[in-house]
Parts: sequence; C-alpha cells; structure tokens
Amino acid sequence: LHVIHIAAEMAPVAKVGGLGDVLSALSKALQKKGHLVEIVLPKYDCMQYESIQDLRALDLVVESYFDGQLFKNKIWIGTVEGLPVYFIEPLHPAKFFWRGKTYGEPDDLKRFSFFSRAALELLHQAGKKPDIIHCHDWQTAFVAPLYWDLYAPKGLNSARICFTCHNFEYQGTAPASEIASCGLDFHHLNRPDRMQDHSSPDRINPVKGAIVFSNIVTTVSPTYAQEVRTSQGGQGLHATLNAHAQKFVGILNGIDTDSWNPATDSYLRFQYNANDLEGKADNKKALQRLLGLSFSDSRQPLVGCITRLVPQKGVHLIRHAIYRSLELGAQFVLLGSSPVPNIRREFEEIAKKFENHEHVRLILKYDEALSRSIYASSDMFIIPSIFEPCGLTQMIAMRYGAIPIARKTGGLNDSVFDVDDDTIPVQLRNGYTFVTPDEQGFNGAFDRAFNHYKTDNEGWKELINKVMNIDFSWDTSASQYEELYLQSVSRARAARR
Ligand code: ADP
Ligand code: GLC
Repeated sequence: LHVIHIAAEMAPVAKVGGLGDVLSALSKALQKKGHLVEIVLPKYDCMQYESIQDLRALDLVVESYFDGQLFKNKIWIGTVEGLPVYFIEPLHPAKFFWRGKTYGEPDDLKRFSFFSRAALELLHQAGKKPDIIHCHDWQTAFVAPLYWDLYAPKGLNSARICFTCHNFEYQGTAPASEIASCGLDFHHLNRPDRMQDHSSPDRINPVKGAIVFSNIVTTVSPTYAQEVRTSQGGQGLHATLNAHAQKFVGILNGIDTDSWNPATDSYLRFQYNANDLEGKADNKKALQRLLGLSFSDSRQPLVGCITRLVPQKGVHLIRHAIYRSLELGAQFVLLGSSPVPNIRREFEEIAKKFENHEHVRLILKYDEALSRSIYASSDMFIIPSIFEPCGLTQMIAMRYGAIPIARKTGGLNDSVFDVDDDTIPVQLRNGYTFVTPDEQGFNGAFDRAFNHYKTDNEGWKELINKVMNIDFSWDTSASQYEELYLQSVSRARAARR
C-alpha cells in the first residue's frame, strides 16, 4: 500500500505531545511491514532541524487556494527516522508557520485549513496516487471534506481517507463562514448531518466533517472509543460517532520501542535493562544530584510525572500527589508545561515554594532529555487523568521500569491493570489503578503502591522486571491499521468494478 499521513506533528522533528510520537512510530511500523509511507508536515521555524537528514527544496512550487487567491508554497523533502517527509512552506504573507510555536495562535484555524488544502494540492500536483490518505486531529480534519469536494473529482480519487482523532476535546470549531477560506462550500457543509456543530447552526466543526467524510475513523484506544460514544464522553460528537459507528474503531497506540529503550537510550547517563537494574539506580542518583534533591536513602521511592498541565491530566490530583508523596516519605519530580495561564501560574507558585526542598522538584518546561532521565529514575509514575484517549507516558514509564499509578479511563484502562485486581489474569497485572477522580480515590492506589514498595522488595523487583518486558511495540496495532486500510481499499475496488 501507499500511505500518506498529513499531520501537524511528528517526533522528534515537530513534537508537542503524543500525536508526534504516534506519527513517527506508526509510520515506521507500517514501513517495516513493506508499505510505502510518506508524511506531509508544515515547515515550522521552531522544528528540530538537526533530526532531518538531507533536507532540500524541491524543484516544485505548489500553488494553493486561500481566501480567494492562489498562494505559492515552497516544498521541501527530507528524511526523518528513515521516513520520507514533505515539508510545506507557505509563501503566504501571514507567515503561517513562522511563529516560533506549533499551536496556540489566534489564527490556528486559518493556518491549518491552509495547510490541509496545500497538502492535498501537493499530492495532486506531484502526481501522487496514494491508496490511503491518513489525517490526524482537527488540524488536518479539513482534508476529508476537501478531498471529497475538490480533489476526488480531480483524479486523486483512488485514495481512501482515514481520520484518527487523538483527542475529541479539540475539535477546531469556528464560525461557519471561516471554512470558506480554504475553499470549502459552507452552504452545503453547514448541515446537522455534515459539518454543523451541535452548539449552534452558525458554527462548523472540522472533526465532525472528518468523521462524516472519511472512509475509516479511528481513535487511540478501545475504551476511549466506547467513552466518546456516550453523551458524557463524546464532547458533543457522540451522536455523529454513533451514526457512523460501522466505520469507527478504537486501536490502542504503541510506542516506538527503538527510541524508548533504556538499554540504548543515548540521553541516559547509564543504560540498563530488565536483568540489570544497577543503571536505573545510578540514573536516579544522577538525577537527584542534578536537581539538588537528597540521595542519602536509597530506599526512598521517587515518584515521577511528565505531562502537559491541562485539566484533562487531572492537575488537582497531580498537585495533591506532591503533598501525599511528602506525607508518605517519597520524593516527587514533575516535568510539565502548560498552555493554560492559570494552571501555569499555580504550578509556578508551587515550584517556587519547593525551589530548595530536598524531596520535591517541579520543572515547568518541555525537555526531552530531562524527560528520559525522569522515566529512568522513577520508581513510580503517576497518570491521574480525568480522561485519556490513550496516553503514552504510562507505557514509556513501564519500559523504563517505573510502576504506573493511573486512573482507569480511556487508554489507561486498556494498558494499566491493577496488581490487586483478582478479576484480571495475573500475567496482565502491571500497576495500580483507581476510579474516583478525587484525593481519596488517588490515595487508594498510591498508598498501596507505596506500601508494596516499602514492604516487599523482592515482589517489587519482580514487578519491575515484568513491566519492562511487556511488549508495547506498534506491531499489533499497526497490523490493525493495515487491516482497516486493506479492507477499505478492497471495498472501493469492488465498488468500482
Ligand atoms: P498527550 O499527547 O495528551 O500530551 P501522551 O501521554 O500521549 O499525552 O504523550 C505525551 C508525550 O509527550 C510523551 O512522549 C511524553 O514523554 C511527552 N511529554 C509530555 N510533557 C513533556 C515535557 N514537559 N517535556 C518533555 N516531554 C514531555
Ligand atoms: C492525544 C491524547 C493522548 C494520546 C495521544 C496520542 O494527545 O491526549 O491520550 O496518547 O494523543 O494518540
């Protein structure tokens, strides 16, 4: 198959969160299965350019429509993680991708609807004939309606469209007339069964459009796929998802086990593996030294948390975990960045309060290298999310030998299984979970983990060994995507016959 992903993120070159991880790891897994996989990204000024090999401008200028005019786009190609990636640099006066950041601009809708259209124009003008065009999240959700309205009739029509929603909280809704900028006809799309948002007849919803107009719709775990089909979990889209249930499925993400591997991770001072954990203890000491934490007691557990600080992640429980860790005699390290001003301020204050504390440190920024040394140093890792489409940090933590303490929701419910839950086969049990999203609920799991650590050294070591050996690779999940692609392609071929 020829698969082209159109997305706003890809690790490590342009990563904000898990979407970036998924883009590169899923693509690598599909490539390994023998498919031709290409990726189209915006050319951001703030990309990690050193992770692109052979970046060069193509002898191809793609013209794309926006706001009633045609604009030129310079097209670049390079290799990231062994994958061919096209980068679109719009020569639009608004300098859409030269803003020093990936998201969070007031004109995000314009920036990404422009990009979606330019990406399809690139495929058209470069004569690409993909079997699958796979778009992700609201930023490239425009691809689905644009494709069926404007590009399928132009001859790109052998492609099937797959849309993956990584988080239904972000839908990119906007006043109906705004989608006209990228050339979509809002008169025919602004209908309750097409792109009209449930909140108002004057607003359109790109994610809804992608659900309606794609051949395949996925989200990132089976439990979350169930949750979003209910009125409590669907963020207004449950009726649409139920109406399109036959093409909607939840596939659990994996992680890139080459990149996330404590035995080879070059960011770590000390590499280690499940059979030799000495390096893990050495990393912990090095981190404690680096952060100015005390390291006199080697049996003092270190609790880690690496996250975007947004309400989804259960920020009140993260805050509570700092104090509970101290009460129980543990250390706590948080690495988090927040786009939400009041959350950022709140955590800045807490960080200041613990600036010189010997057992707590809050580092409020995005830092790949530090994230890896925290995964490697943590004994326990908390993910107390209110909702979590999939979550990758629990899988990465386990791969690095940190025991997850997670709320039973979304993908956490599909990947973390309580050590004390008799209803779950013993071989699957790998962490501590709780249901009620309050302090008591959290303590119910956290205190048990702490007690286990303190009272049963051998049992804890066995648990570490077990979680480090779990297969979180993309092999199984990539096969599920492959299967969906193949089914869709063969249905289309049968229909054409
Ligand atoms: P989400 O995509 O909702 O943020 P995921 O668990 O799917 O959550 O993925 C988060 C990814 O981003 C992981 O690879 C995690 O290590 C990384 N990450 C999150 N916050 C930070 C940070 N402050 N610094 C470095 N990496 C981070
Ligand atoms: C989103 C979700 C997260 C998921 C990631 C990758 O950011 O919040 O749960 O793991 O996408 O699919």
